[in-house]
Amino acid sequence: MLLFNFPNTERSGGSLLVWMLCSMSLAVVAMGYKPVIIVHGLLDGPRQFGELVRYINQSHPGTDVMLVDLFDDKTSLKPLWKQVQGFRETVLPIMKKAVDGVHFICFSQGGLICRGIISTLPDHNVHSFISLSSPQGGQYGDTQYMKHVFPTFIKTHLYEICYTPFGQKISVCNYWKDPHHIDKYVKGNDYLAVLNNERPNPNMTAWKNNFLRIKKLILIGGPDDDVITPWQSSLFGFYDENENIIEMKNQDAYVKDVFGLKTLDTRGDLVTCVFPGVKHIKWHSNETVYYGCIDKWLT
Ligand SMILES: *[C@@H]1O[C@H](CO)[C@@H](O)[C@H](O)[C@H]1NC(C)=O
Ligand SMILES: *[C@@H]1O[C@H](CO)[C@@H](O)[C@H](O)[C@H]1NC(C)=O
Ligand SMILES: *[C@@H]1O[C@H](CO)[C@@H](O)[C@H](O)[C@H]1NC(C)=O
Repeated sequence: MLLFNFPNTERSGGSLLVWMLCSMSLAVVAMGYKPVIIVHGLLDGPRQFGELVRYINQSHPGTDVMLVDLFDDKTSLKPLWKQVQGFRETVLPIMKKAVDGVHFICFSQGGLICRGIISTLPDHNVHSFISLSSPQGGQYGDTQYMKHVFPTFIKTHLYEICYTPFGQKISVCNYWKDPHHIDKYVKGNDYLAVLNNERPNPNMTAWKNNFLRIKKLILIGGPDDDVITPWQSSLFGFYDENENIIEMKNQDAYVKDVFGLKTLDTRGDLVTCVFPGVKHIKWHSNETVYYGCIDKWLT
């Protein structure tokens, strides 16, 4: 019946184990909920999603929920392309088995990993891509998370480390976007700048087509997050050079439809949900968020 087993917190990440949390009864298989694949955030792992799994099990009983147990804790600092490769190898067999497709719920840094997977996997079958408080527009803020990684760091100086080949070996530098040093970001950032085609990416047309295979993009974020900075980054907004917020619809990436945002929006397949009063680590356990903006996309 039910294999409910959170990984022991001592175990380091990197194992290719996928935790199958809920097994299906035959009656439920007939209802055909698509499997849900959950990708964790920075300095954490699958154990953080107990509540979310419970909500899914309650509202869509019998759903196969897979928490990918990979690059947990400190190993979540590995470069994102390396993580994309690892997660891709793990989720590919799950996708192949799921003839009707799968859903992605990807939290925080995990949202950028999922975007990397979706962009580079030509035959993926992701239906709903739920990006849960993920710095899709980049990060520029001195939050606690950054202090864990760079204890003495000063936000205005981090570009000096981040945009070097050494810096790009640390995940957070792969989406660090210093609005006062955009030229250095474009030259030195190997991940976000490439996904965004800010540094010309020869594979962009293919990656855009891959991205557009998703059926729905659900962007969730809010002003009290306290980690994602600016918080509008969770909705593809970001600072201009004066640290004013440019919303998604006025971003070049949207206006020029660089990787498909505008197409998704025109198709009616881009959903944004803003919730006040939710701290960063509460997104996946907040029932209002779940029933307000996740539940209905998991059919
Ligand atoms: C899923 O729901 C069933 C009852 O509907 C319950 O017995 C089971 O413990 C739940 N599993 C999880 C992981 O919450
Ligand atoms: C990008 O394109 C080149 C050839 O044009 C190809 O060799 C490479 O595998 C592509 N990279 C990805 C990640 O798709
Ligand atoms: C849950 O979300 C609601 C709606 O935004 C918010 O008012 C509430 O403070 C949140 N609770 C927690 C514990 O995050």
